[in-house]
Amino acid sequence: MKFKKRTHTCGELRDQHIGQTVTLNGWVDNRRDLGGVIFIDLRDRYGITQIVFEPSYNAEAHEQAKDLRNEWVVSVTGKVRRRPEGTENPEIETGMIDVMVDEVSILNKAQTPPFPIEDRIDTNEEIRLRYRYLDLRRRPMQRNLILRHKMYQVVRKYFDENNFLEIETPFLMKSTPEGARDFLVPSRIHKGYFYALPQSPQTYKQILMVAGFDRYFQIVRCFRDEDLRADRQYEFTQIDVEMSFVDEEDVFNIVEGLMKRLYKEILDIEIETPFKRLKYEESMELYGSDKPDLRFDLQLFNLNSIFERSEFRLFSEAIKKGGIVSALNAKGCGNYTRNQLDVLTDFVKKLGSGGLIWIRVNENGLDSPTLKFFNDAEQKALIEKTKSEIGDLILIQAGEWRKTLTIMGALRLEMAKRMDLIKQNVKPQILWITDFPLFEYSEEEKRLVAMHHPFTSPKDEHIDLMLTEPLKVKAKAYDLVLNGNEIAGGSIRINDPVVQSKMFDVLGISKEEAEEKFGFLINAFKYGAPPHGGIAFGFDRMVMLFANQNSIRDVIAFPKTSNGLSLMDGAPSLVRPEQLKELHIKIL
Ligand code: AMO
Repeated sequence: MKFKKRTHTCGELRDQHIGQTVTLNGWVDNRRDLGGVIFIDLRDRYGITQIVFEPSYNAEAHEQAKDLRNEWVVSVTGKVRRRPEGTENPEIETGMIDVMVDEVSILNKAQTPPFPIEDRIDTNEEIRLRYRYLDLRRRPMQRNLILRHKMYQVVRKYFDENNFLEIETPFLMKSTPEGARDFLVPSRIHKGYFYALPQSPQTYKQILMVAGFDRYFQIVRCFRDEDLRADRQYEFTQIDVEMSFVDEEDVFNIVEGLMKRLYKEILDIEIETPFKRLKYEESMELYGSDKPDLRFDLQLFNLNSIFERSEFRLFSEAIKKGGIVSALNAKGCGNYTRNQLDVLTDFVKKLGSGGLIWIRVNENGLDSPTLKFFNDAEQKALIEKTKSEIGDLILIQAGEWRKTLTIMGALRLEMAKRMDLIKQNVKPQILWITDFPLFEYSEEEKRLVAMHHPFTSPKDEHIDLMLTEPLKVKAKAYDLVLNGNEIAGGSIRINDPVVQSKMFDVLGISKEEAEEKFGFLINAFKYGAPPHGGIAFGFDRMVMLFANQNSIRDVIAFPKTSNGLSLMDGAPSLVRPEQLKELHIKIL
């Protein structure tokens, strides 16, 4: 089809173009027929230009314009003029001018879209995803993807300037030890054998260090078959980084430089470095989370020293068993009704708690059904420790350390919402969480598992504890947290074969199993492995936070729904029996 190609975009024309004859190509955003004159807003990704069809100016074009409908694709040629006085639109960049049309041709017609192409719509997300090409025409979505594009460019430039090499690694690989479920790809020529899609390029990037590429990065898709949420997709993008001859400080430095650059260039915000750091244990005890949201204070208080010898068995027993009694003070919530307190109790019960202990701080003293179990000294110490004043509400949980604190962390977020403490548009709150445990006990598997992955190095001073007190061993592992979201995680890796074999021993991985699963990596390490470490950013999460969105689906062009469907193209789908046969697969 021959058509007149655009001379300008729909966001380009200004005062200086007045008098020029121009051609624009774009979509009809809307059409207003005011009897004599027809106005059309013509849209492309650069903006909107008002197009005018006047019978006295060009009768033929005006006649044709009567047919035009929303979302039709047209090419118009006409003259740029200053808008008549009083009709300028300062809201849009092209608002001083419009185009008087001499010639219009229809490049493509459109059916009526299932939802309006407008900034704010209340269409449900499934319909938006089914017609993603229409959804992506909307300005907020265009802005998100443009922001994402800009962030890629800043990232690439930053790493290039810092001597990092971008190296691609395979998508068809052997299963990696990252902990989530793999997506498997059957091999056609090797009957019964499977590739796995990488959960991350972890093993490859370590091997690249052995190969001497001492500074590697990649913006790379990763695949994990795990339950989807607002911040999780089956396939997501990492900025993956690995460095040789480094310790934790070097990794922190590079990451802080990148974050500073991104904030400056993308949002024009100056952020301060170095970032705040919290040890895992501190973070758990203060905020009940290893990704604390520091946009508001609301800290937890460890009450163990007060209740160690308490008559109240629930507390003293918990402490004796190595657990914790943890409290938070909800300022000004002392007027909560029994009903409201029941709702909070249900909230913690749903998270697996036995119940919620609450204490209202009244003018007449403390008010709580649990009060009778506390002696005077305990009550006094409790008030002091939690800095409680009249009108406050103290909430307490006691039990196993991690579980109790995790529930308190959820309660902290819930109370922050109720108390309206989470303010948007405050300075970004970024921090490092360090000193993670090397191991954790998996209830599901009834054994110790690596908290990060089996190649994460223990702290030097804890190597001797690995076999005797593994749960006390801290790792050279770190996460980066932004406004309560884990946006990156990494570690310094094990580089000593003796430590590596201790690691496998603790994890209950036999020599044969280690050889079978990770033999290629262990072998590579026999040929001169430099000390190395790295990190990976969840890029989608970063873009989501920079774009001020609540779901990574809004910053991914074609995401899956929360139950893993691609509604637009209908994946996953059945395949032809011949395809299965070729792959030696039988569906049970
Ligand atoms: P980790 O598993 O912590 O580390 O992943 C790094 C970051 O990726 C993001 N992320 C996700 N984003 C969206 N959807 C998902 N399903 C998803 N899973 C993880 C998170 C997380 O912080 N190889 C190691 C890194 C290393 O040790 O260098 C790794 O992949 O923001």
